[in-house]
Amino acid sequence: MHFTSSQLTLLQLLGDGECHSGSELGIALGITRSAIWKQINHLIESGIPVKRIRHQCYQLPNQLILLNKQQIAEHLAAAQRTTPFKLHLFTSIDSTNRYLKDLPLAHSVDICCAEIQTQGRGRFGRHWHSPFGENIYCSSRWDLNYDLTKLSGLSLVTSLAIVATLNELDISSNIKIKWPNDILWANKKLCGSLIEILAESNGNIQVIIGIGLNVNSDTKNHPLPDKPWCSLYEITQKHFDRNFLIAKLMTNLETYLIKFIHHDLNYFMDEWSKSDYLFGKNIQVTQSANTFSGLACGINELGQLILQDESGLKHFLSSGDTSLHQKS
Ligand code: BTN
Repeated sequence: MHFTSSQLTLLQLLGDGECHSGSELGIALGITRSAIWKQINHLIESGIPVKRIRHQCYQLPNQLILLNKQQIAEHLAAAQRTTPFKLHLFTSIDSTNRYLKDLPLAHSVDICCAEIQTQGRGRFGRHWHSPFGENIYCSSRWDLNYDLTKLSGLSLVTSLAIVATLNELDISSNIKIKWPNDILWANKKLCGSLIEILAESNGNIQVIIGIGLNVNSDTKNHPLPDKPWCSLYEITQKHFDRNFLIAKLMTNLETYLIKFIHHDLNYFMDEWSKSDYLFGKNIQVTQSANTFSGLACGINELGQLILQDESGLKHFLSSGDTSLHQKS
């Protein structure tokens, strides 16, 4: 999917959610009404739901604030941070994680965001639903000078940084983390993260942290089959500026990663217990070869999930897909 600069300008103008006539848009872009009509057709064919209202009047169903490199950079600059960032912004990309994986190494933190992902990836090779202009698809690559064996807590720390960001928005106290990294509201998925580790031959470790946060999608009226999802819009009935949110997410992520490196996971135990969705529940954990059932008893200092089975035996699980156990 490729958008020309005229099409992006059109989206910016329509982004206020108001009705705009073809002649008004034509004047703004310096092109004829019929050229506007062609550009709008291209947007509609690309899946952007521009409505034609009455004669030659165009409107987007919702407000749309496009991603903007300068705005993200300004919000980042306003926060008190230490690490230099390099921003890579795309209208369309296959996957922001994939992009950073193939990027030559650098000493700054590379951040990649896109309006749409055509092959957004989730955990266990699942697809991540990434519609245009609605949500955050943001990956960042960090040079972590850290012992690989201690990195198991990284997904948990990432989830805590995301929850801290959401709490700053004062939207709801009911946001929980389902170990290791599903952020849930009302039992529905609000956010997920995908962590990939690149170990270099010189012993350096680079991690890619990909965050998919559902922001402005009308999730209530567009349920996904078999995947209960929700968005900040469903929770608050408000639309959010993703540029501001991305800067907040990256700022908190930096703070949490620095604390993690200095203190390790023990430092976050209290914070984790406050957000632990599974604690005290009967759950099932599926790994590629095994399935465990039992009572979730929190995590240990390595970030492993503690699961007590019916015989009282404790299992310490490093990975797996968790679900609430349905008693038959
Ligand atoms: C999950 O919960 O399964 C993880 C979802 C992670 C999705 C994000 S969106 C940005 C980044 N790019 C991807 O392809 N995936 C992650």
